[in-house]
Amino acid sequence: MKKFLVIGNPIEHSLSPILHNHWIKNNGINAIYKKQKLNEDELEQLILQVKEKKINGINVTVPFKKAIIPFLDKLSTEAESTQSVNTIYLKDNRVIGHNTDIFGFETSIKKSRYNLSNKEVLILGAGGVVPSIIFALNKMKISKIKISNRTKEKAENLKTIFKNIEIIEWGEVPNFDMIINATSIGLKIGDKINLDFSLISKNKFFYDVIYNPRETNFLKTGQSLGNITLNGKLMFIYQALSAFNIWHGFEPDVNENVIKLLD
Ligand code: ATR
Repeated sequence: MKKFLVIGNPIEHSLSPILHNHWIKNNGINAIYKKQKLNEDELEQLILQVKEKKINGINVTVPFKKAIIPFLDKLSTEAESTQSVNTIYLKDNRVIGHNTDIFGFETSIKKSRYNLSNKEVLILGAGGVVPSIIFALNKMKISKIKISNRTKEKAENLKTIFKNIEIIEWGEVPNFDMIINATSIGLKIGDKINLDFSLISKNKFFYDVIYNPRETNFLKTGQSLGNITLNGKLMFIYQALSAFNIWHGFEPDVNENVIKLLD
């Protein structure tokens, strides 16, 4: 039986096992997907198990997406450019690190049918997922990426990798067509981003990377001000679909049942 894992710390909240095991079962694959909480000093040993074919694939989540890199033999272009790995597999006896968050984000936008070309995007936050979002946005030919983060230094670090971004002071709300919440504000019910959106015009696109809770206060505000909104559920599903495709060699179905699994 093939064995797959998602690693992180904490990891209890991860819905990856539910999603992957659903696809595994529905397609009659002889495999199991589990979650495992780890400490950083256990990463090297774990990657050894991929090399020895005791583990067939790993998803990596917070806080190890960057920390795992030194233990891998090779990175895909996407993982290299973002310095962020969320999917690991063995190919020709080499342990490869790839980033499917980019595909997840890009596909979620495509499914929403929002046309991003020549649009201005404001990203709130500068944490682990943001390099993947910037990489995907750059592929989508948007006209401007602005980033605002409470700790300005982290936004400045991103600018050393992605030269085209513009840094906005935390607390300011510049003009934008699309705004993305990539902070962790909203994970807890009642969390509120301390920014005033009341002066922006309607028909903007409010996107929250968070999908649990389903509708954060950020999305509620966006909606009540007359904007389009989308949470991070499709991004999550499609990053998983891309990892599944790498490991099992085909794309699993994304249907109502799959979407309901994550409610
Ligand atoms: P990490 O930064 O370890 O990658 P993350 O969950 O990916 O963790 O990112 C958390 C993001 O939410 C960061 O951008 C963080 O801002 P800081 O860089 O200033 O820490 C942001 N964030 C979390 N709580 C916040 C708050 N109360 N106000 C503003 N930003 C907050």
